[in-house]
Amino acid sequence: MSSDLLLIKNGRVVDPGRNIDQVSSILVRDGRISVVGEVTADVIPEGCPTIDAAGLVVSPGFIDIHCHLREPGFEYKETIATGTKAGARGGFTSLCCMPNTEPPIDNAAVVDLIRRRTREDAIVRVHPIGCVTKGRKGKALAEMEELASAGVVAFSDDGDPVYDSNIMRLALTYSADLGIPITNHCEDHSLAKNGVMAEGWVATRLGLPGIPAAAEEAMMARDISLAELTGGRLHLAHLTTAGAVVLLRQARERGVNVTAEVCPHHLTITDKWVLGNMGVESGGASTQAYDTSTKVYPPLRSGRDVEVLIEGLAEGVIDCIATDHAPHELVSKQVTFNEAAFGISVLETALGSSLQLVHSGKMSLSALVERLTVGPARVLGPAFNEFAALEPGTPADIVIFDPDAEWEVDPSEFESKGKNTPLRGTTLKGKVLTTIVDGEIVYSASPRSKS
Ligand code: DOR
Repeated sequence: MSSDLLLIKNGRVVDPGRNIDQVSSILVRDGRISVVGEVTADVIPEGCPTIDAAGLVVSPGFIDIHCHLREPGFEYKETIATGTKAGARGGFTSLCCMPNTEPPIDNAAVVDLIRRRTREDAIVRVHPIGCVTKGRKGKALAEMEELASAGVVAFSDDGDPVYDSNIMRLALTYSADLGIPITNHCEDHSLAKNGVMAEGWVATRLGLPGIPAAAEEAMMARDISLAELTGGRLHLAHLTTAGAVVLLRQARERGVNVTAEVCPHHLTITDKWVLGNMGVESGGASTQAYDTSTKVYPPLRSGRDVEVLIEGLAEGVIDCIATDHAPHELVSKQVTFNEAAFGISVLETALGSSLQLVHSGKMSLSALVERLTVGPARVLGPAFNEFAALEPGTPADIVIFDPDAEWEVDPSEFESKGKNTPLRGTTLKGKVLTTIVDGEIVYSASPRSKS
């Protein structure tokens, strides 16, 4: 029978953009959603491939507006092939990749290279993000118009902030004309200095240099002022502090054109994880302390910060969840805490981590799905709406997951080359079973999912 058809029957269809949360069936035809609702026998051709999704959630595929695919230049950390496989295993059907590659994505030729590699190797959609400044050096604006014409979906020097305020002003001014957001990694280096974790009692106990919350908040306040001045499209990357949520809420109330994201790790684990024992206090540092897989930029912060971030996300002040998937090769983490690379491999644990907010009653399932689909699409602009909805006529980018299935995180099973996760050995509740892009199954966890 034609593989151009696929029936997903009896799933709990959660499509927040259209306010749908009900048991339903979906017929996919020629890569697009054809029917959502009751699919009657007369429209189902004999032998139509069928997924029985009874007891499972069926939602638009997740959109990650912030990840590191490392290609070109750092293929020993990740490639477009392995990164998109990891994305598919995590339920992501669109990935926006950051430009801290080598060469950086600061001209159309590199964008074209990524597009070619995507056509050849990717199993989910890949959208490049262009640099704000030439070479990510922070000295002069990149050719933003050339990058926009080449198809970048955002601009960022992520890994580093746009430090020079006048350059940030110019970038925001152009972003208003181009209709493309500037994603800033807010970190005032003169405050963060050589910090390797959050400033606070844990850093003091461990004797590690800390990064104060003000490093994030000071730059964020500057960026909000500049967005107000220019009318530009500001997007704030990976918020980590309670104060950042306050600043964001105030800016929103004033009508500033600003959006923001938060990462699964900043919503679920704290700086106490650097002490070992997975954040459970045991009177001091454990033998598992200084685990370099907890080293991430911006850093894991206090329980209070986590609470406020969750409130901000649940309320919708923070628009979306983004992974900041930052895969690293083993040796860059097998060094002292001070020397280790910053970053966590997140794509494959993002759903299980984020679902903790649902299981603990802090957020509804449909709100969480919104923050993984409609929210990120809103940040990127109207062209992305069709990837965030299960509406007849839209591309069939779909994820099917079991929100209650428990599984143990074993990084050796990751599709990502990056095995750097502090969640190794923990149990997550919520598992992706099938990921579909353009109507094609690109990931399937269990043989029962297709008949
Ligand atoms: O932890 C991080 N790693 N934060 C960043 O901003 C950059 C990223 C990377 O590229 O490894």
